[in-house]
Amino acid sequence: MNFVGSHILSVSQFDRSAIEQVFDVADDMAPYAHRQRVTRVLEGAILGNMFFEPSTRTRVSFGCAWNLLGGEVRETTEVKTSAIAKGESFYDTARVLSGYSDMIVMRHQQEGSVEEFASASRVPVINGGDGANEHPSQALLDLYTIRKEMAARGKGIDQLRIALVGDLRYGRAVHSLCKLLSLYSDIQFMLVSPPELRLSDEYLDGIRTAGHQVIESGDLQAGIRGADILYVTRTQEERFPSQQDADKYRGLFRLNQSIYTENCEPNTVIMHPLPRDSREEANELDNDLNENPNLAIFRQTDNGVLIRMALFTLILDVVHQVEQTAKDVNWYTAKRF
Ligand code: NCD
Repeated sequence: MNFVGSHILSVSQFDRSAIEQVFDVADDMAPYAHRQRVTRVLEGAILGNMFFEPSTRTRVSFGCAWNLLGGEVRETTEVKTSAIAKGESFYDTARVLSGYSDMIVMRHQQEGSVEEFASASRVPVINGGDGANEHPSQALLDLYTIRKEMAARGKGIDQLRIALVGDLRYGRAVHSLCKLLSLYSDIQFMLVSPPELRLSDEYLDGIRTAGHQVIESGDLQAGIRGADILYVTRTQEERFPSQQDADKYRGLFRLNQSIYTENCEPNTVIMHPLPRDSREEANELDNDLNENPNLAIFRQTDNGVLIRMALFTLILDVVHQVEQTAKDVNWYTAKRF
């Protein structure tokens, strides 16, 4: 895959060697993301960070990743403060904003919106999530995390047993992750969801055609037994036809320490793309797991910066120049990585 100047719209663009390339560069970004070194390689470059749907970590980590490479970030965070609210098309918005920025990251509630936007953009565009469709950078950081966590347990990604729990119908992070995992061998997909929120046939067919095993379950405890990784998700309430529809699924699956202890081997990894819905009536991932060393959710968010720095440097063709402008940091850095 040639990254230089390309849009990142779907994980379907990646093969295993492209993934390895991203992961290798991500590894090299650690001194910068971990505040040991600073680089100015993107000095003068501008990122247009356009988030038309709520976001904390995706928006901020894309922005931080760009800043850590020395670039500046311009943000639009709501439809109502942008000209899209006045009826402007994606085409016009893309033509305009791509004149102001060197790269654009966009999130929008409509499936296919980022692709439409990218086709009119004069600079590379990264999909930060388009409706229930895809979330490529999330899947890459999830897979990177899976690889690291499994390596620490003496295993690889091939033959992985992963339980995907919750809203598999509307969860775009799950959709992209299933596609990426399908590139590996002998994956056991343990799908745990209410029947109405099952993974759709489009994704199931892709998994099965690639030769992997699918086991579906409507029961949390039975469904997670024997997994290497538990990947828990939030009910994507904002994608349901009405709040009343969404309410039916709130709190159906709640993973806590006692369910984990009873059903999982002691080193089973716990992941979640976040945000977890910590309201009492939802609570799909209980706070009593916070001290569990297998809870990888904040390692995922830290890894997100590495992956996004890797995408930026690959697309802008500066991978080999990062170190040229680098120096050690000279401020106090709290130990957190
Ligand atoms: C996810 C998303 O927006 O798709 N969040 C994220 O980007 N980390 C998952 C979610 O919102 O539940």
